[in-house]
Amino acid sequence: MKILHIDCSPRLDSHSRALSAAIVGKLLAIASDATIIRRDLGVAPLPAATADYATTLSSPTTLAAPVPGSLDLSEELIHEIEAADMIVIGTPMHNLTVPAVLKAWIDQIMRAGRTFRSTPAGKVGMIGDRPVFIGIASGGTFSGERANQPDFLTSYLSAVLGSMGLKSLQFFPVQATAFLDAEQGAIARDAALAMLDLADMSPPPRLVAAGGA
Ligand SMILES: Cc1cc2nc3c(=O)[nH]c(=O)nc-3n(C[C@H](O)[C@H](O)[C@H](O)COP(=O)(O)O)c2cc1C
Repeated sequence: MKILHIDCSPRLDSHSRALSAAIVGKLLAIASDATIIRRDLGVAPLPAATADYATTLSSPTTLAAPVPGSLDLSEELIHEIEAADMIVIGTPMHNLTVPAVLKAWIDQIMRAGRTFRSTPAGKVGMIGDRPVFIGIASGGTFSGERANQPDFLTSYLSAVLGSMGLKSLQFFPVQATAFLDAEQGAIARDAALAMLDLADMSPPPRLVAAGGA
């Protein structure tokens, strides 16, 4: 089994990193032979979409004849997803949604004709579903009775990853981190992870993507 482990916080001592590490730990406890594919977007951010990449993605014609080399990074990142049986993401909330480094990853993996098909009825995923566990840290509160801000993070990730075919998402929020000391942070993390559902650990169905890898 392979686990793709992604972190997004620019901080090394971080609530979302602690969350994702704890999720990976729980997965390894039941699948000790699992190997980890590491993608640390916080430590090594991806570049923003380049002119060549944007040109290739600009029309069906250019997608059929890409600017040479323009899809290399995108392919590398998509292969990491395809190789993984499960994906674990640790991310902060930044300005009500995902941080820029996670958006840069999404900009590389969402590709018409490769990870989704555009149809009149909307995008159809070309990536086989697999569990995606997402640990979220937010300084304030975005869900529940005490929510004091909108949440464009969980809805956005559900929509965009769902468009690729990744629909089995579980979110684990640790909120109000601005007011948590280390001990309270650990308690909040344990409470969030109590919801972790490892009931279905069966291998995910693989879609064969038409025209894809
Ligand atoms: C640029 C930036 C924007 C932020 N925007 C929000 C926000 O919109 N809502 C919120 O609750 N917290 C916000 N925060 C606070 C972080 O979500 C919080 O500090 C969180 O714990 C960071 O994750 P980490 O501990 O994994 O680094 C923001 C922090 C930064 C640096």
